[in-house]
Order: sequence, then C-alpha cells, then structure tokens
Amino acid sequence: MIISSSTDYREAARRRLPPFLFHYIDGGANAERTLGKNVEDLSDLALRQRVLKSVGSVDISTSFFDEKVSMPVALAPVGLTGMYARRGEVQAARAAAKKGIPLTLSTVSVCPIEEVQAAVDRPIWFQLYVLRDRGFMKNALERAWAAGIRKLVFTVDMPVPGSRYRDAHSGMSGPNAPLRRMIQAVMHPTWAFDVGLFGRPHDLGNVSAYRQQKTNLADYVGWLGQNFDPSIGWQDLEWIRDFWKGPMIIKGILDPDDARDAVRFGADGIVVSNHGGRQLDGVLSSAKALPAIADAVKGDLTILADSGIRSGLDVVRMLAQGADGVMIGRAFVYALAAAGAAGVENLLDLFAKEMQVAMTLTGARSIAEISADSLVKAVAAA
Ligand code: GLV
Repeated sequence: MIISSSTDYREAARRRLPPFLFHYIDGGANAERTLGKNVEDLSDLALRQRVLKSVGSVDISTSFFDEKVSMPVALAPVGLTGMYARRGEVQAARAAAKKGIPLTLSTVSVCPIEEVQAAVDRPIWFQLYVLRDRGFMKNALERAWAAGIRKLVFTVDMPVPGSRYRDAHSGMSGPNAPLRRMIQAVMHPTWAFDVGLFGRPHDLGNVSAYRQQKTNLADYVGWLGQNFDPSIGWQDLEWIRDFWKGPMIIKGILDPDDARDAVRFGADGIVVSNHGGRQLDGVLSSAKALPAIADAVKGDLTILADSGIRSGLDVVRMLAQGADGVMIGRAFVYALAAAGAAGVENLLDLFAKEMQVAMTLTGARSIAEISADSLVKAVAAA
C-alpha cells in the first residue's frame, strides 16, 4: 500500500488491526459529532497564501517547557498503545526521540514507565488521571520522577468515561467480548503473531506494578470506571502540584474560564482538548475553542492543543489559532499500527514537510512568525 499521509496510515491500520482495536482508537463518543468537527473545523480554517515574501529556508524547531523540539509537536498519551504494535510505547518513544520530539506515556500504557524510559535518552512525559486511588497516583509520580521524567500531563476531562458506542459493537466491551476479540485476532494473523503473541505481556504495566497483580485488558474498562473520581476539584490537585517538582500541564481545557483557573492554580501549561471527541459529544472542536482561550491566557502559560490534527497543515492552523504547540494521538497510533517505529518516523517526516510547505506559502520563516495573520480572517470567522 502506498503511504503519503496519515489518512493512508489509518487505512493501513484498519486492515491490519483486529476491529476492536481499530474502532477503539478511531471512534469517539455518542454520535461522534465532536470527533467529526475536530477535523472539519480545523481543515475549514483557510490558510492565507502569501507569495514572493523572500522566505528562504523555514525553521520549524521551537521549544516548550524549556525543552527543544524539532517541531511543535508532542505525541499525545494514548492508552493501550502497546496493543497496536509490539511493545508499542517503546517503539513510539524511539521514533519520537529520533525525530526530536517527546512522547507522553499514558497511565494506562501496556509498557510500564521504566521500560519505555530505559529505551530512549530523551526524557519522556508522563500522563496521569485523577483517580480515586491516591496511593496509585503517588506511586506513579514517584516512579516517573525516579525514571528521570520531569513533565507531568494531568488529564482532567475524564471524571467519567464517555459513551463510546463503537466499543460495544466492536468487542472492546459488550456481550462475549473476550471471545469476539479472540476470533478477531485469529482472523488478523499478522497482528496476532507480531503483537498478540510476541508483544506480551499485555497488561496495564503501570497498574500491575502497583497492584502487584496482572491487570489485563479485560480489567481495563472496569479498573478505569471504578477509579475515575467525579468529586474532584482544583483543591484536590494541590498536593500534586506541591509534590511534583517539574512542569505540570493540565489536559482537557475547553473553556476560557477553566484556562484562567489553570493559571490561578499555577499550572505551567494546558492542553486545549476535548479528548479527541471521546468524552462529551457535542462540545466545541478544539480549533474553535482555542482562540478565546488564547485571548484569556496566552503568555501566562504554555498552550498546547490536540483533537483533529491529521497533517502538518493542521499543526500550522492550530498555531495560527493561538497554540504554542500541539499533541497528536490517533495519527501516530495509525502509523504505529501500520508500520511500527518506522511508520511513526515517516509520519513525523510527512508532518514536517507539510509544515514547511504551509509556512513557506503563508510567509512564515519560523514558528514565532505563525500568527492569526496566517489565516484568512473572514473565512476563519465563518
Ligand atoms: C482514554 O483516555 C480513552 O480516551 O480511551
């Protein structure tokens, strides 16, 4: 199969993966309205073509949280990445490090913190949920710090799990789920040998280490469901802010008032995100939510954005809407599922090239030169 974009990787991933895994990564909440809008609203933003601006060479490198990055992109935390390729988090971390950007390891990764960090020289970032089990949270933070991790991404938009209709249909959950997953694996032998058989152990590495018992895929939904804590407020996060000595980034902000609260709380960054359309269907796309948030807090903390980014053009659009950088989730997991670390490296090369084209043709020589002026305003506002 010829690969020239993240759309191609999505198709390659669809062919290779058992459906329960493809739909888990590909799907969103309820009618998937927000999932669709994330992509549409972003691609609807019209880039403002400028010509003969003597652009010369374009520099897409920048830095956030005092960390140099080859482009303003970080790999987003994605649970169960290790089910998409053999020791998937390790492969993704290697690809990211080779290309000069960070990977954010999910709390619910297959590979534990230590395995992933040991595979790369570049410090990874670590994502944590608000969980009822504060012992687990503290333990995870201690382990992350001991491994050399300094950037903490705290996900706050999952006090309850969203309703993901596809999961019940695909066998991720629902009746006879384990049997259906097994049948699907048998029917996808390339994945079954590479990942199903040789990618073991398949458990939630970080959770198993803490509970000292194997927490497998069947427990995944149950463990998360029991552990989400909707009673949490900013005050409950204070101990983490005091405990964690590195930058703390709050992920899941979609409203300017919450962004201001994040500044008051003392966060170093936020991720403007609707969790890839996987939580509350019907909320604003990140692309549309971003400008008001940037107006409210730009300069007070670092603004990252995710949800809907499928190309280097989309990265430039998010920056023009006010982000300092972006996270990509699905796009890298499709590439990882299709072609492992080499797939992620290639995807990042494609993104870099697409950014260079967009910057050259909008007249931006550096990341700092991307601004609201990089978009056609009348169309952007429509
Ligand atoms: C977990 O964060 C998920 O979106 O499934």
